[in-house]
Amino acid sequence: ERPRVWVSQPLFADLLGRLDAHCEVRRTQIVTQHAPADVAAALRDCDGALVTLNDAIGAAQVAGAARLRAIANVGVGYNNLDLAALSAAGILATNTPDVLTETTADFGFALMMAAARRITEAERWLRDGQWRQWSFESLLGGDIHGATLGILGMGRIGRGIARRASGFGMRVLYHNRSRLPDEVERAHNAEYVSFEALFERADHLVLVLPYAPEHHHLIDAAALARLRPHATLTNIARGGLIDEDALADALAGGRLAAAGLDVFEGEPAVNPRLLALRNVVLTPHIASGSLATRRAMVALAVDNLLAALGLGPDAGRPPSPLNADALAARKPGI
Ligand code: GLV
Ligand code: GLV
Repeated sequence: ERPRVWVSQPLFADLLGRLDAHCEVRRTQIVTQHAPADVAAALRDCDGALVTLNDAIGAAQVAGAARLRAIANVGVGYNNLDLAALSAAGILATNTPDVLTETTADFGFALMMAAARRITEAERWLRDGQWRQWSFESLLGGDIHGATLGILGMGRIGRGIARRASGFGMRVLYHNRSRLPDEVERAHNAEYVSFEALFERADHLVLVLPYAPEHHHLIDAAALARLRPHATLTNIARGGLIDEDALADALAGGRLAAAGLDVFEGEPAVNPRLLALRNVVLTPHIASGSLATRRAMVALAVDNLLAALGLGPDAGRPPSPLNADALAARKPGI
């Protein structure tokens, strides 16, 4: 009997062909926000699954899934997965790091620049027919070149943003759970500072740290109050990092010049107070969304899934495992 695999969303049908060679594949034909109980039902008699950040998987979803051995997340962030519950059930989880680093860093830079230079606000103004004569003093923004960039979370993507900043002549400050080795700091021209100093000194602050429950609303009113009035805040990590009401207060009150947000706490719902503000650039979680990179993410997730199921050329050695400890608790294959 061939392993059964659930694919939770439409994901480049041609790339899923490699799964068909080894598995019985249950495809999802249209983009679907699956209810938690529907995820549990879909996983119940499957050996593996290819899922995205839309699909939350915890103890309740895997409790009835006796054959389930592998969950391949098509994304680098994996806050949708309860790794402790998956490990306890002997289910190996994987993600897609590296292949999206440069594309995501490109977008973070673009969003920061759009916020600082008021690009989407200006475009809306033009489309609204308000451009009646060229005016020297309208829509003035802040500079990127020569400014101080603050990076919160100096992982792969944070370092990608730092590399771009060098080309713009920016000074780069960062804060991270652990300080990077000297040679990495030097290679990225980056100076380690405290969380507080990062907020106090950055002209443009970019959030790139992974979401964990202890980071919920890490960016609260007190953190925002440390930013200078001309500063911008860009978030390409996870929405739950920011207290969005506190951010809306700061943006509305002129205590922060602008924000660029690709992620939101209640996605796909967006806080109506943010929607009403002109000094915030809003995009629908597309930072990794170049065609080439989204395809590379699916290809890597397929590699991971096949390997985690003991199939294909990397059998037993998935390229990017998240919880290798799951193997200890693993059920025998079918
Ligand atoms: C997208 O947000 C990802 O984590 O890949
Ligand atoms: C996170 O995993 C990153 O690549 O920065």
